[in-house]
Amino acid sequence: MTRISVIGCGYLGAVHAAAMASLGHEVCGVDVDAAKIEALSAARAPFFEPGLGELLAAGLESGRLSFSTEFAAAAGASVHFVCVGTPQRKGEFAADMTYVDAAVESLLPVLSAGDLVVGKSTVPVGSAARLAESVRDAGGELAWNPEFLREGHAVEDTVTPDRLVYGVPAGAAGERAVAVLDEVYAPILAAGTPRLVADYATAELVKTAANSFLATKISFINAMAELCEAAGGDVTVLADAIGMDDRIGRKFLNAGLGFGGGCLPKDIRAFMARAGELGADQAVAFLREIDSINMRRRVRMVDLAREVVDGSFIGKRITVLGAAFKPNSDDVRDSPALAVAGLIALQGGSVTVSDPEAIDNARRLFPDLGYERDLEAALSGADAVLLLTEWQQYRELDPEHAASLVRSKAILDGRNVLDPVQWRAAGWIYRALGRP
Ligand code: UDX
Repeated sequence: MTRISVIGCGYLGAVHAAAMASLGHEVCGVDVDAAKIEALSAARAPFFEPGLGELLAAGLESGRLSFSTEFAAAAGASVHFVCVGTPQRKGEFAADMTYVDAAVESLLPVLSAGDLVVGKSTVPVGSAARLAESVRDAGGELAWNPEFLREGHAVEDTVTPDRLVYGVPAGAAGERAVAVLDEVYAPILAAGTPRLVADYATAELVKTAANSFLATKISFINAMAELCEAAGGDVTVLADAIGMDDRIGRKFLNAGLGFGGGCLPKDIRAFMARAGELGADQAVAFLREIDSINMRRRVRMVDLAREVVDGSFIGKRITVLGAAFKPNSDDVRDSPALAVAGLIALQGGSVTVSDPEAIDNARRLFPDLGYERDLEAALSGADAVLLLTEWQQYRELDPEHAASLVRSKAILDGRNVLDPVQWRAAGWIYRALGRP
């Protein structure tokens, strides 16, 4: 059993704290947001994440998990995970390191000799080396242990990850850090999870490289979707066919509205900014194109929607299914669905957004859009329906029943999850990105 503190209780930290307690450790999660700490202390997940509520309840019940707004609560721990956010800086591509710097700074007075500070946040390469000095001056050591969790699958990704990556300093200090992390992750390693030990810079780059590759895969297939649109091909069949080559693989080849969320978009931009600082901007110049392809999909969706409502949104009722950036999440950060909804509203459309979990968050970001949680009410009277986030209930929508609710039977499948044959048979105009 290790005594652990987790600094920052957002998507990453809250899940990490609960997961570490489930491994048998004594864990204290620290966050400056009192409302968040109150919710977590009552086993309420402050955001929608399947399985997190149960994990929190089990941890609190065991007496091994607690939460606090005070940094002093981290004092008894010997391993301190830094899990705060690194959002995109306003008006720039670079990552905002304010929260990471402040978290490490606040930890310094509570560190005891031999404590290990473990960074999990996604940071520009070089950050760990910079932060390590002050940690060492306070008697501790620093490791960088990037996190690869996906929202909506955060619990399973944390408890059964594909791999663990440790970034540690050279020599005896690094060996000690590896031994501490091996102890923390012992049950995960015992299950056969591979673990890679690297220097700080490599560990930091692994995370940004992984996200860049994922973004590239999505934009590649979306570029092929553009070609399919131009040539009259079907990108879903194309993705199936190239995905059967196991060197390529079918995962992350779902063409549609593209990627959003709190990670992929800002991480590739921060990577470009950091590469520029390092004089290596040419190496990642392709990411600018990846970003552009991604943003073009949103504009294309708006154009397609305008086309099916006869060239103008004025006086038209547009129903948008989905507000979250992806299903099984209530996260609306850089949500492609909301971006499209916002653009259509700007062009005079009367937009109603529906989502099973993300409406409250969406309303804070886009207060002027219409919202309707109830699916039937959202569909009623629509001149066009846009499926933009592929929640299961939207995939299962019955075209016959939906037809009885709308004013005009036009459906735009922004995630290529509906069966065109079935929808057309029910009398709908079916349009999608990258399909004839
Ligand atoms: C991502 C990475 O997957 C994760 O490893 C990293 O730690 C954080 O960033 P996340 O942002 O939770 O995780 O979402 P992810 O499931 O990767 O989806 C990202 C976006 O890509 C979503 O908007 C999704 O709709 C989109 N996407 C994904 C596609 O458009 N097509 C695909 O084939 C896959």
